[in-house]
Amino acid sequence: MLPQSMLRTCHLLVLMLCVSAIEDFDWTKNDHGSFYYGVFPTGFSWGAGGSAYQTEGAWNVDGKGMSIWDAFAHKKGKIFLNDTGDFSCEGYHKVKDDISLMKDMNLKHYRFSISWPRILPTGIKNENINEKGIKYYDDLINKLLENKITPIVTLYHWDLPQILEEKYRGWQNASMVNLFNDFANLCFERFGNRVRHWITFNNPWSIAVEGYETGEHAPGLKLRGVGAYKAAHHIIKAHAKVWHTYDTQWRNKQKGLVGISLSGDWGEPVDISNQRDIEAAERYVQFYMGWFATPLFNGDYPQVMKDYIGRKSAQQGLGASRLPVFTAQEKSYIRGTCDFLGIGHFTTRYITQKNYPSGRGNSYFTDRDLAELVDPRWPDPGSEWLYSVPWGFRRLLNFVKKQYGNPMIYVTENGVSEKMMCTDLCDDWRMQYFKDYINEMLKAIKDGVNIKAYTAWSLLDKFEWDEGYSERFGLYYVDFRDKNKPRYPKASVQYYKSIISSNGFPNQRELEIWKGKAIETCSSSNQLLAADPLISHMGMVTEIVVPTMCTLSILLSAVFLMFLLRRRL
Ligand code: NOJ
Repeated sequence: MLPQSMLRTCHLLVLMLCVSAIEDFDWTKNDHGSFYYGVFPTGFSWGAGGSAYQTEGAWNVDGKGMSIWDAFAHKKGKIFLNDTGDFSCEGYHKVKDDISLMKDMNLKHYRFSISWPRILPTGIKNENINEKGIKYYDDLINKLLENKITPIVTLYHWDLPQILEEKYRGWQNASMVNLFNDFANLCFERFGNRVRHWITFNNPWSIAVEGYETGEHAPGLKLRGVGAYKAAHHIIKAHAKVWHTYDTQWRNKQKGLVGISLSGDWGEPVDISNQRDIEAAERYVQFYMGWFATPLFNGDYPQVMKDYIGRKSAQQGLGASRLPVFTAQEKSYIRGTCDFLGIGHFTTRYITQKNYPSGRGNSYFTDRDLAELVDPRWPDPGSEWLYSVPWGFRRLLNFVKKQYGNPMIYVTENGVSEKMMCTDLCDDWRMQYFKDYINEMLKAIKDGVNIKAYTAWSLLDKFEWDEGYSERFGLYYVDFRDKNKPRYPKASVQYYKSIISSNGFPNQRELEIWKGKAIETCSSSNQLLAADPLISHMGMVTEIVVPTMCTLSILLSAVFLMFLLRRRL
């Protein structure tokens, strides 16, 4: 294997050769990298989000059942440092506090998810409804509304009741479709008089691929080449069923919308003049977002998925494709079941064609016949996979417009993380990320993409799945070692607030003032945080001890060098 640094240099060389060609690409002509001053349409909704398992804690409180994430995180070796979401941000007990943070930022919406086992501990509606769980969400919704914050509610952000995993193998089993529909129906019945925005599934790509293909996420199954496709098939059917339930039973009375939140990285061809790279990049996006969006908007899986997986399955000697098939009836039932499309977007990859001969073990990844590359110049402040590439966002949004008939889009997740030990609340890289990504979204609106809302991800630092607490996405820093889980604003809170209050980007001068103000406020939050004895000790190690040791060693080396030189003279 080539060392990482050599690989990086090779990527850089390849990418530099292609930079000129990229300029030709449609929507970014002439303004690749240029900033666009302007405002968002009136009524554009600014929000922030989180999800139940990542923030609530209270994992076994008030009658809540176990979820697959409770079970998975409790197994040793699954999560970084064996952390769990048992307590997390204690959001379950801090509704009032968190809503005042949102209020202070002037958020128009808050995106959260309902934990299925918190309200149905055995997963099954007819068995046991946990009224205490219902009350928690009732209070949350009521308090948001009292503060004029619109709730955007996700029904499934990955926390399947554990018992359904044990009894049925979770999303591998078709019976999840009806069980999920019963749960959703209960939510419409109990909360639908106040909730107008429903998201059935969050990021089904992760549920399928990380839950059932690689096993990095709960339930941790490694059913390579088949598990993810099967899970996705049932999830798509479950989504459609829930949409129809809402449409026939609740829409008239409640007048809400039902969508889904799909995640998608953008894939850019490494060599824009090479047809094979162009097709590989298209495949990357089709196997990612297209896998779910194409059935919901057009009735079936992307043709390229059917072709590739079908061909590889035949080469393996299988009698049928590993990609399941929708019947004609199912296709028409599924088509058109999205009132809005939620998009969670964080990053971009360069893509090149790469053949994976079948027979050497098939998987979702090898089915695509491509390789992913990154430009080492892209900023990469936190999560290993998350490079800041704002222009990819605009391209993805335009792709969605073109492919799916310009649907109504809610950006349901966008943001950037920092590493665990970072106690500096002056997160200028996050301000930069938000500024640039939101600006690309504004350009996309000017391109005619129908975007209604933006959700900064996330309101708080929180449990980051298999990475535990080591990656912090929050606008607010959470001190997880203190059992009260105090929240401290990072500079990006003030910066996001300024974007919200101007509904966009008025002019360069104003933006400079915003930055200055944000840095001022974070210096005082840093002082507050430093008052915590544990943190200040850690801060001392990283901010004082390490630099001092470095300076001392440089000085000592210099003295030693001078000593040697003098002796020679
Ligand atoms: C997408 C997931 O939906 C969310 O829960 C997670 O925090 C972000 N990715 C960042 O990894």
